Amino acid sequence: MKRCLVWKWILLIIFEVVNLSMQIEYQFELEDESIYTNCSNVQPGTLNINGLFDMTHLSTIMKPEGIELSGNMTSVFNAQPSDRIEVTGNLFYFDRGTWQPTTLNMAIKDFCKVMYDEKQLWYKEWAARVTNKDVIKDNCIKEHGTVFLMETYTIKLRFGSSMPLVSGRYTLRIRVFAIDQSGKKRPNDVCYEVKGTFFKI
Ligand SMILES: *[C@@H]1O[C@H](CO)[C@@H](O)[C@H](O)[C@H]1NC(C)=O
Ligand SMILES: *[C@@H]1O[C@H](CO)[C@@H](O)[C@H](O)[C@H]1NC(C)=O
Repeated sequence: MKRCLVWKWILLIIFEVVNLSMQIEYQFELEDESIYTNCSNVQPGTLNINGLFDMTHLSTIMKPEGIELSGNMTSVFNAQPSDRIEVTGNLFYFDRGTWQPTTLNMAIKDFCKVMYDEKQLWYKEWAARVTNKDVIKDNCIKEHGTVFLMETYTIKLRFGSSMPLVSGRYTLRIRVFAIDQSGKKRPNDVCYEVKGTFFKI
């Protein structure tokens, strides 16, 4: 029952009919100011978020109104400009001490085509905040050394839904792969998780 409701909820988002004026508004409150955590049980060779970006100059600070992000980050992903970037997302729900898979899984076959697409989930609270995007957008995350200059902003992950959503602790597991022109996955793919709590506002 619980999963079914969540599934319906995510479908709303995936099919881009999110509408903040709908009845119920939810907020995803990040658990940790560092935002990104390691995946558990990854295969040897899989890297964490640091395999995607050098975050040395990125600052994330917990403030009373949320996590404030500022600075810049540099692409360090093991990819070539001719590669296709594939991204998958899997949502897990924390239930009685264990992470339970949900049916909420998404696969983005060609991430670079939609990285700065306004309709994507990550646009408002990430891609739109890249202040030099006009200059670097063609690089996507495939050009080693590309610097993403970030606006200083407080992350507010809000979603509207007419479906009731189970409040609680969730983790979103993101995996990023570079696929070369022959269709082979490159080594040093990336896996990281973003943990937080959904609650009704
Ligand atoms: C995350 O993984 C990295 C690389 O394997 C490791 O150095 C680091 O200690 C891990 N962090 C935590 C909190 O386990
Ligand atoms: C990135 O941030 C660091 C630290 O704030 C700064 O010194 C550096 O100039 C920034 N890089 C660019 C390209 O703006």
